[in-house]
Amino acid sequence: MSNQFKRTLVTTALPYANGPIHIGHLAGVYVPADIYVRYLRSNNKDVKWVCGSDEHGVPITLKARKEGISPQEVVDRYHEIIKKSFHDFGISFDIYSRTSSKVHHETASTFFRKLYDENQFIENTTEQLFDEKENQFLADRYVVGTCPYCGFERAYGDQCEKCGTSLNGKELINPISAISGNKPVLRETKHWFLPLDKHEAFLRKWILEEHTEWKPNVYGQCKSWIDQGLQPRAVSRDLDWGVPVPIDGETGKVLYVWFDAPIGYISATKELTPNWELYWKDKETRLLHFIGKDNIVFHCIIFPAMLKAHGDYILPDNVPANEFLNLEGDKISTSRNWAVWLHEYLQEFPNQQDVLRYTLTANAPETSDNDFTWKNFQQRNNSELVAILGNFINRTIVLTNKYFDGKVPPINILTTQDEETLNEIAVIKQEVETNLEQFKFREALKQAMNLARLGNKYLAETEPWKLFKEDKSRVETIMHINLQITANLAIILEPFMPFTSSKIFDLLQLKPLQWSAIGKNILSQAHALSSSTELLFSKIEDEQIQLQVDKLEHSKKLINQKINVKPMKEEVTYDDFQKMDIRIGTILDAVKVPKTQKLLQLTIDTGIDTRTVVSGIAEHFQPQDIIGRQVSILVNLAPRKIKGIESKGMILMAENQDGKLEFVLPSASVSNGSNVS
Ligand code: MF3
Ligand code: ZN
Repeated sequence: MSNQFKRTLVTTALPYANGPIHIGHLAGVYVPADIYVRYLRSNNKDVKWVCGSDEHGVPITLKARKEGISPQEVVDRYHEIIKKSFHDFGISFDIYSRTSSKVHHETASTFFRKLYDENQFIENTTEQLFDEKENQFLADRYVVGTCPYCGFERAYGDQCEKCGTSLNGKELINPISAISGNKPVLRETKHWFLPLDKHEAFLRKWILEEHTEWKPNVYGQCKSWIDQGLQPRAVSRDLDWGVPVPIDGETGKVLYVWFDAPIGYISATKELTPNWELYWKDKETRLLHFIGKDNIVFHCIIFPAMLKAHGDYILPDNVPANEFLNLEGDKISTSRNWAVWLHEYLQEFPNQQDVLRYTLTANAPETSDNDFTWKNFQQRNNSELVAILGNFINRTIVLTNKYFDGKVPPINILTTQDEETLNEIAVIKQEVETNLEQFKFREALKQAMNLARLGNKYLAETEPWKLFKEDKSRVETIMHINLQITANLAIILEPFMPFTSSKIFDLLQLKPLQWSAIGKNILSQAHALSSSTELLFSKIEDEQIQLQVDKLEHSKKLINQKINVKPMKEEVTYDDFQKMDIRIGTILDAVKVPKTQKLLQLTIDTGIDTRTVVSGIAEHFQPQDIIGRQVSILVNLAPRKIKGIESKGMILMAENQDGKLEFVLPSASVSNGSNVS
């Protein structure tokens, strides 16, 4: 552990409060950070972990618009849902705050004002995209268009999610307002810019020379940014939701969400402890930002430049960013509902938080994007958690109950194998530590599980069940060692699987122990275990997995259907609509039009008259099935000759996504000739 530091402040990206959270959030940011913080706590380190909801920005106002509610209602709803999911999965923040809080508004406002007063911003009037119909500037995600760098057609005004490039709305090809679908115009507006170019020399030296230990994906992104030359970045927006720009007379402007949100880390620390300045301003504090890869530039370049400009803050010592987790081969997407939502997972796999934590860590997208599949989830559970970990501990407990009445037997003469096995514990401890300190959580977990593998191997090789009759003393030693391994597992697994760890401690009737106890003699002779033999894990059956796969298939169907929905036709006036005379009528007779596939000749009582209509529905209905049915009919359509028959009017049909036709009808029978309007 880096020893030049006295304390650690961990931050994790503040999730946008515009939807619930899913496995991608956990895998990329919160589970790794939780493992790390739990590990530090287990080592008695001074550590604080702050997080909260990101409640400003266009993702929130867009959601509010879509649902017809206020932004405050959106964030109130999702803040609670997100907070609960984190809690349910054992994500152990010291505080989970929110950026709509008063403390945050004050902190962000004061921060901005100090930089403003000290001339750290450039004030500039530029042209921005403006939606004339909505009378609104199109900041950030309010505008979509084609990315000028990679050609992706749904790039946002602030960033292309395909290639990761950070954009200015004006750069988009064919920009379209996300609010109205209109083509925006350019209009002048005044904003404040953080001159990143002025900080470039500092950033280059600080990151590219002094932080060569950062993960290659992080270092690489920073290098490419800096090498391209840094530009001034606007830190305000023309919006009405956010922290108001604290300058007299500047109404209708708020701080850019990426300016206020990282300051949220500071506000949360303030709420957490009166000693907050120690964690932000003392050189002996180690600041760590856990984030996903789309947040790298903000945490490595922009926020540090802000902190540097402010003058008295420390900068991050490391920014362990992960790549993305995909789901069954596709990018996780909130809007397309292609996700495994945490609250839904717990309904379907109650009390199985650790199975998910385990799978997500074992497949963590640490060095490249990675894929979550339900099959792999099942396999990790059945062949690792059940077959290795659960099996070892269960056998140990059951045998101790059987042979020694649930009490820890003495340790007698040690064989070489016993000694080697016991020594291996310290080796594994060391491996886990080395990997955790380098943020290599997958490897650390694998090493920790090696302790369970070691136990299984030892049990299989010593075969105590064969020895009990003739050599009880030997069996005492073997079971003593197995119990010690079990106790060590409870400690070493705690950062990764806190729920399981606590169950193991309960089985052993031990109070939770700290990291330094690993490798020591934990259980004393005659210590009594719990009488419970509850299994730690249970097999997940194919049917359970199939259910989840089906659920995703269903989402995919809905997504495809959405894609198949035809775009809206050109606008018509009320008068245009009024010209159409639609009535309810009854089919009196129906016959196929000879030598055609699709046409039926219908005789219809329209209430006005009895007339003939030729309709292209023969592939969907048998004539005898529709005689007597009511239909909606456009009666003032100009007559047309179809296959020599004069057709007067048109039957209204609804066409399903798959092309199937249905009659459009009132919900109850009405008399012929009734108007539809
Ligand atoms: N809300 C942002 C996102 O989900 C992350 C904000 S991190 C912070 O991408 F530093 F700004 F807080
Ligand atoms: Zn792009």
